[in-house]
Amino acid sequence: MERVLAYLKKNKKRFVDELIEYVSIPSVSAQPAHKPDMQRSAEWIANKAQQAGLESSIIPTKGHPIVIARSPRRKGRPHYLVYGHYDVQPPEPFELWKSPPFEPRVKGRVLFGRGASDNKGQHMAHLIAVEAYKQTGTELPCDLTFLIEGEEEVGSSNLPAFLQKYRKDFDIDGVVISDTGMPSIDQPALTYALRGIVAFEIVLHGPSRDLHSGIFGGTVDNPAMALAQMLAKVRDANGKITIPGFYDGVLPLSKLERNEFAKLKFDSVEYQKFLGVPELFGEKGFTVNEQRSARPTFEINGLTSGYQGEGSKTIVPSWARAKVTCRIVPIQQPDKIRDAVVSYLKKICPPTIRMEIKTGHGGEPYLFSPTSPAAKAGLNALRKAFGAEPVLLREGGSIPIVNEFKRILDAETLLLGLALPEDNAHSPNERFSLECYEKGMLMSAYLWKELAEAAQPPVA
Ligand code: BES
Ligand code: MN
Repeated sequence: MERVLAYLKKNKKRFVDELIEYVSIPSVSAQPAHKPDMQRSAEWIANKAQQAGLESSIIPTKGHPIVIARSPRRKGRPHYLVYGHYDVQPPEPFELWKSPPFEPRVKGRVLFGRGASDNKGQHMAHLIAVEAYKQTGTELPCDLTFLIEGEEEVGSSNLPAFLQKYRKDFDIDGVVISDTGMPSIDQPALTYALRGIVAFEIVLHGPSRDLHSGIFGGTVDNPAMALAQMLAKVRDANGKITIPGFYDGVLPLSKLERNEFAKLKFDSVEYQKFLGVPELFGEKGFTVNEQRSARPTFEINGLTSGYQGEGSKTIVPSWARAKVTCRIVPIQQPDKIRDAVVSYLKKICPPTIRMEIKTGHGGEPYLFSPTSPAAKAGLNALRKAFGAEPVLLREGGSIPIVNEFKRILDAETLLLGLALPEDNAHSPNERFSLECYEKGMLMSAYLWKELAEAAQPPVA
């Protein structure tokens, strides 16, 4: 282990240069113009894995290719899957970036660039740990298969079929993912729960065309007004969602969980400033940390109707639309919550309007036992790498594929995120802390040893 650690220290500078090269490839999965960059990015990371000592291959899909890289399979060794994604979110709006998103730049101890934190830097840390084992001739305590996909940011639609098809090659003991966060560099975290998601589009249809609001206004319902009134009914003044059944299936927090939440450092004034709001708003009776990870939400993501151009236009619009996502928590079922929302909207939609509801993607919430042997191994690795006591986190974001790993491969996932709250994921000026990068490599190096030991407890 000493030699692995020394190797990581000695080659620090090169690891940053490599990440810069990787981040400079604009692998934006959502934009067709970047299709060739997706292939380039897959090739880049497949090469890196090969150079780290793994056998890598690139598998085409109907969408973007999947990269698989594996160490030789040995009998009696635990086998772990490391998942990551080489695709990134669209960088727009460009004008808000202080330096171009795909011309990565180091400033102090931070690397700026789209994808640096979500997720290139995080899975690179794991690959580099493997390189350190191989290059120092140190035996890897576990067999590893890396799966780096190119469609996470657009819903991972081709991955479940791929897992199903190659199920036999994934005889794994568990999955490790670094694609979540930690509260701060001195609070490394093991995430044991994620929220799920249900997406909708609500379209209200009024008159068959935009109408003159002077000639016809007052005699027909206005779909924008109807939509505003309907949406306003969904939430009360205490921040509670009024849809019957919306909180069904929410597991109450255990004592252990409440204690863990209490350990998190939190300054509400700083948080409010960070978000740029005059005052915080959330469901009464819960702390901010509970609100953002352990409670379901109903969020309007987009709201459109009528004239949006310059100046005024006097019309009764023909239609109004809202894009909505609900985050759901363990152990709520996406289908049940979808049904509850749809039937409530149907109930409150006035007869003067025709409503159309398009249901979009969905994903189940995830819950993993924070006291399992694998979780303990993860906590040990974090403690050693960061030199600080790790916290247990529930996260508000979603990684729907985690439930597919469970369903298709019968494997649980250890979420050991390396992102900081200030990393600007999905926002302009995305960044990744080089300290998290280095500590992430250490964490990964320790992890395989800890997991192998957890699989074979010493005989008493
Ligand atoms: N890395 C995030 C998920 C995440 C971030 C989980 C922080 C926990 C904490 C991932 O890349 C992401 O953005 N997921 C989407 C999934 C959705 C589109 C189905 C999300 O959460 O919005
Ligand atoms: Mn993301």
